[in-house]
Amino acid sequence: MEFKKGDIERGIPIEDNSVDVVISNCVINLTVDKVAAFREINRILKSDGRIVISDLVTDKEVPTHSIDSDKWCGCIDGALTKENYLACIRKTGFQDPQILEEKLYQEVDGVDSKKITSLVIKAVK
Ligand SMILES: C[S@@+](CC[C@H](N)C(=O)[O-])C[C@H]1O[C@@H](n2cnc3c(N)ncnc32)[C@H](O)[C@@H]1O
Repeated sequence: MEFKKGDIERGIPIEDNSVDVVISNCVINLTVDKVAAFREINRILKSDGRIVISDLVTDKEVPTHSIDSDKWCGCIDGALTKENYLACIRKTGFQDPQILEEKLYQEVDGVDSKKITSLVIKAVK
């Protein structure tokens, strides 16, 4: 096993078209530029390579001016809607993303009430 450290938005230190599968749990949610993250994942995957990603999505995205950095770090304020999350995956060259698992993670009460859902998504390059 070899560990490599990189920033998924700026560049994963792995060559183009060189890996079979990328797995990730609750990372993309924390990135600022989710399209850049999926583009970088797509770049390192071989043709027909696949992703299995577990992440959180929301039913109400937080507008940029209302972002709370603590809640971003808690995987809440950086969450996209399911539709926007899947759109980012499609936009970066993956075909037909499939939801393998979907379950309620948290219901946030109060003025900014929302539902946070946990997804497991598979997609092929
Ligand atoms: C909620 S933790 C999940 C950690 C691990 N995947 C797990 O399941 O226990 C989020 C992880 O995302 C990493 N992360 C956040 N933004 C990142 C980025 N732009 N590039 C690479 N890693 C990032 C953090 O360093 C942290 O390790």
